[in-house]
Amino acid sequence: MTPVSYFPHQNNEMYVEGIAIRDIAKQVQTPFYCYSSSAIEASYQDYQNAFSDQDALICYAVKANSNQAVLTTLAKLGSGADVVSMGEIHRAISAGIPANKIVYSGVAKTQDEITYALSLGIFQFNVESEPELELISKVATSLNTTAAVAFRINPDVCAQTHAKISTGKAENKFGIPISKARLAYKQAAALPGIKVQGVDVHIGSQLTSLAPFKEAYQRIAELVIELRADGHDISVVDVGGGLGITYLDEVIPSKQTYADMVKAQLAHLNCKIILEPGRSLLGNAGTLVSTVVFVKTGEERQFLMLDAGMNDLIRPSMYEAYHQIIAVNKGTKSLKTYDVVGPVCETGDTFAKARAVHESDAGDLIAIMSCGAYGAVMSSSYNTRMLAPEVMVKGEQFAVVRKRPSYEDIINQDVTPDWL
Ligand code: LLP
Repeated sequence: MTPVSYFPHQNNEMYVEGIAIRDIAKQVQTPFYCYSSSAIEASYQDYQNAFSDQDALICYAVKANSNQAVLTTLAKLGSGADVVSMGEIHRAISAGIPANKIVYSGVAKTQDEITYALSLGIFQFNVESEPELELISKVATSLNTTAAVAFRINPDVCAQTHAKISTGKAENKFGIPISKARLAYKQAAALPGIKVQGVDVHIGSQLTSLAPFKEAYQRIAELVIELRADGHDISVVDVGGGLGITYLDEVIPSKQTYADMVKAQLAHLNCKIILEPGRSLLGNAGTLVSTVVFVKTGEERQFLMLDAGMNDLIRPSMYEAYHQIIAVNKGTKSLKTYDVVGPVCETGDTFAKARAVHESDAGDLIAIMSCGAYGAVMSSSYNTRMLAPEVMVKGEQFAVVRKRPSYEDIINQDVTPDWL
């Protein structure tokens, strides 16, 4: 799926499925996020088809986009959820994802969060540290129940992705070192309230090559064999998420090619396979639509100043991420080079430098592509800007699935004490 597969131009006008973006913009006002439900469904089906010959469960990584309409779309297809907080558990459950399809990752789970997850009966805790395991054991014992656990293993593999989203190297905070795994499982097996059932790994996000996955899964397979020899009943391997998407011209292995590699490394273990994809399900199913407020001519550059800013989409300033920037109406104009910036009072509020975009005027609509994952979920109201609404499209229907708050909503969250 390319960034524009579900956002094609027809007669120079950008559509999402069967609706012109311009028509949505008239009703919703920019900036807004816009998702194609067909794109989400198609990505999910690709995973499901690729793993249909396995006992596999897709646990969508809720952090990528936790809108209830997105979660409901996936729940209806049978998806489980990979969650990292009590909030994400609430969201998953309220969208109809059953507790027994939830895996709980998350690096510093609190006692309250563990208690809540245990009371629901989730499928598995992906345990990140020995002290966390002890806390889970304590809580499970006090509730007179048993927690099914897997340790997240840090295999010390370089994911060859951006440093801020690389998680599987020894220096990263995630998981327990593979060298300590056998000891950790031994300790776990001796703890009350704990059922050791699996092994979990996630080495990073936006991986464009299969090689790091393969290396990690090879190590995990060897570990499973060792753990079984040590007497542990390992029946689940959680392979994490991380498969990348095309933002510009990255050539990403298909989900089928990824699945073939996973099966080559792990199928012989006869384990249930858990997948935790986020970006590869949602990334190219969404766009951020904004309006050009001004075209400003600086001394050296021309700036396209948008009504969307880094508070709406932080990826370019945070990870130097590339997102295609496309005029919603290409008209008959030619390409021109712009710095595309937002209205926030920071130089970092820049979506792209020296980028070719069809010549645009104030009032024109601009689409920032590949924003379905890690877009709206990472937004803030910095500069007291409204959180951008989210819109879901299916065929020729659309709905606002998160509405824009009012200024009152925002100000009323604050409290001025009467002693001031
Ligand atoms: N499982 C675990 C344990 C994770 O930490 C993550 C993502 C995933 C699954 C899903 O990975 P995906 O399939 O989406 O690559 N905000 C960053 C990405 C952070 C990813 C964090 N973990 C970005 O905008 O690029």
